[in-house]
Amino acid sequence: MNPASSPAPLQSFESVVADALSRRDFVRMGLGSLAVGFFAGSASAEEAATTSLFGFQGVPISSNDEVKVPQNYTPKVLYAWGDPVDGQGPAFQPDASNSADDQMKQAGMGHDGMQWFPWPGDDADRSDRGLLVMNHEYTDQGLLFKDGVEPMTEEKVRKSQAAHGVSVIAVEKKDGEWKVVPSKWSRRVTARTPMKLTGPAAGCKHVQTKADPKGQEVLGTFNNCASGKTPWGTYLACEENVHGYFGSDAADFKPGDDLKRYGFSATGAAFETTSLYHWWKHDKRFDLQEDPNEPNRFGFVVEIDPTNPDSVPRKHTALGRIKHENAAVTLSKDKRAVVYMGDDEKNEFIYKFVSAGTYDPANRESNLDLLTKGTLYVAKFNGDFTGKWIPLVHGQPGLTKADKFEDQHDISVRTRQAADAVGATMMDRPEWVAIHPKSGKVFVTLTNNSSRGEGSSKIDEANPRTKNSFGHIINWEETGGDAAADTFHWSIFLLAGDPSIPPVNEKEPKVNIKGDIFGSPDGLTFDPRGILWIQTDVSSSKLGQKDYKNLGNNMMLAADPETGLVRRFLTGPKGCEITGLAFTPDLKTMFVNIQHPGERPTENEPSHHDDPKAVSTWPDGQSGGRPRPATVVITHSDGKVIGA
Ligand code: FEO
Ligand code: CA
Ligand code: CA
Repeated sequence: MNPASSPAPLQSFESVVADALSRRDFVRMGLGSLAVGFFAGSASAEEAATTSLFGFQGVPISSNDEVKVPQNYTPKVLYAWGDPVDGQGPAFQPDASNSADDQMKQAGMGHDGMQWFPWPGDDADRSDRGLLVMNHEYTDQGLLFKDGVEPMTEEKVRKSQAAHGVSVIAVEKKDGEWKVVPSKWSRRVTARTPMKLTGPAAGCKHVQTKADPKGQEVLGTFNNCASGKTPWGTYLACEENVHGYFGSDAADFKPGDDLKRYGFSATGAAFETTSLYHWWKHDKRFDLQEDPNEPNRFGFVVEIDPTNPDSVPRKHTALGRIKHENAAVTLSKDKRAVVYMGDDEKNEFIYKFVSAGTYDPANRESNLDLLTKGTLYVAKFNGDFTGKWIPLVHGQPGLTKADKFEDQHDISVRTRQAADAVGATMMDRPEWVAIHPKSGKVFVTLTNNSSRGEGSSKIDEANPRTKNSFGHIINWEETGGDAAADTFHWSIFLLAGDPSIPPVNEKEPKVNIKGDIFGSPDGLTFDPRGILWIQTDVSSSKLGQKDYKNLGNNMMLAADPETGLVRRFLTGPKGCEITGLAFTPDLKTMFVNIQHPGERPTENEPSHHDDPKAVSTWPDGQSGGRPRPATVVITHSDGKVIGA
């Protein structure tokens, strides 16, 4: 089922981090802006990494119920769950009594990946108005309904489906204040919006269902985690944990191996006896017994054209079916589209898609087809810091009929099984991929992996810590500097964590952050200057506890990819994760998403409708009805460029 990658030589952990440790370690503990000396070995302050990339004063670790940013910066809530998508109506009801129909016209929950686009017709660098497109990854069902999860009704399922998906909103700065304004582009895409399948799996037998016997049209997208933006101005919403929405009450239902490889089960995403979603009880396509191919139509990258509100979103099966985190897009030397993607689960893989066609800046129509045809690769990280992109092409070794892969359609739906078969490297939960705007170097967050070192998940050079509690960031350079290359050289950029917490295995590489400490890196974005913004997602069950006892709430930090210096820019309210980041072209306005404030510390347990403010009241405060995920807009009091 998920065989280990080829054994890699383990003799030299020191060499793994040779790059990152080339300067002596210096860790500035996150206590105010105090540089509390924590010096590994005999490093001195003179040897500490510096940066000319950013110039703000870091903020301390915080456990407060607020968004905290550096001096002279102001965070303001722009677009919270339930706010009208067109800035007009229907208004959010703090007791969560809005109907499913209201929710269709309001911000969804679980704000996640986000991108900025110019208003169609504006100059690309206009910075006082634009479109923001963002994902609503998932719902806290305990906060979503006035009377809680039980009993689940058709109306509640419809409201939950409407609170998932994507928002396209128009934003404008008027009299110094950013606002959501009405526009013809404002739009919600939900778990019921019609969309087309493209690529190898479109029409194949794996995706044919009762409602769609031709396997061409899918209703909806959900669990859209992070995102991507193409050079031709479209948005990519990535479907991640889609398994949790399906289940079955049929007594004789048993998921087969292909369903199990993706985590599908009779109970869906469940907390003890309570299912979080129960969609299948009132929408039969989510019943795994009734419609066994419906789950094969989720787990893809969805392309949405924000400039055309009537456009039908497309699910690109050529990019593979995995638990997609984000989709980082660039161009190869010969102008093919290249998309890097992580599959966020313990011991899963990193992928790359290279389009067959080439990008033509003068022909948007043809660019819109680039993600429909090409080659999907999966990464193998060798112990000597070389790496290889293995093509997931039918007929290649391990991917023949004799290996039980019928054709390319099959590989586009059973992508994980194909990657298992070719010996890709099992990673510590690949999250966001970010591409350096100048060098093209590729960075990926590996958020954590409590199972590293168990069973087939052996320690290797690219995943060097047993029960990796804090995560790390890896990077690579493609051979010849060409994104379409089939080999690369990699190194570890940094190993996250709290140096006061001893590693599970003393011999393994230690935390080596130069600057402000953090754990569980997830969101990762380069701005055009080359500042690497890191957003953390410590799960609510770990926040402030055990290994994470000194790290407070989730946060966002800036890193210099050259010197490795890290400085904390933002801390979030209680129970939240920080995810999703966009800037205006002049870099004077930053948009950040605060996801699931107020989430209870028992992982996956929905909040309780009787006590919605048990953990957090952010952003509305005590007078509000419940915590709400929201987009926050951050500006400097003197109108300066963010972070300068
Ligand atoms: Fe949706 Fe992997 O975070
Ligand atoms: Ca994430
Ligand atoms: Ca995460």
